[in-house]
Amino acid sequence: MKREEFISMHITYQNLITVEDYNALRSAVGWAAYDIERARFALERSDFIAVAQIGGQAIGMARVIHDGVQAMIMDVIVAPEHQRQGIGRALMARVMDYLGELARGGEIKAHLMAVSGKEEFYEKFGFFKRPQGRYGCGMTKIFAVNSLRSFSANK
Ligand SMILES: CC(C)(COP(=O)(O)OP(=O)(O)OC[C@H]1O[C@@H](n2cnc3c(N)ncnc32)[C@H](O)[C@@H]1OP(=O)(O)O)[C@@H](O)C(=O)NCCC(=O)NCCS
Repeated sequence: MKREEFISMHITYQNLITVEDYNALRSAVGWAAYDIERARFALERSDFIAVAQIGGQAIGMARVIHDGVQAMIMDVIVAPEHQRQGIGRALMARVMDYLGELARGGEIKAHLMAVSGKEEFYEKFGFFKRPQGRYGCGMTKIFAVNSLRSFSANK
């Protein structure tokens, strides 16, 4: 049996993640960890979290916040050593199921901010790149309270 097959047999999926595992996953892909209280707040405010685990250890996650009409997908992460083994797809499939259920009440418009180079991954789930038609660019502003200045990604 190939290593990937062995690992995939031992992956379980659930809907909870610890603050420590959340920050560990963010760090593993080079994203800043949040301070513990802010990370806890972010997780508690999430409406849906999908987590992939092996032996109690989180190896991937995705989370969603929504207001009933619009939803934002965030923190789609698979630990580097487990990437390209279908785990990101499995996590997104759970997110898609969740959003599909929500949309039964009418329509849900789901958004995400793709990291540069990851667009193709999301296109597999039906997301389209902006700008397109009447949809302009997604826009972002970062408020960095500590440094009392805001900055853009290309500065
Ligand atoms: C993006 C990410 C979540 C993908 O997870 P993954 O487990 O490696 O993805 P999968 O193995 O499930 O791949 C699913 C499909 O997407 C494709 N894919 C995966 N990563 C891709 C990439 N970077 N670019 C294009 N296609 C990609 C795979 O080839 C596969 O295609 P297939 O089903 O047609 O064979 C993972 O690379 C990651 O965590 N990256 C770092 C964090 C990050 O950038 N997250 C996205 C934030 S917007």
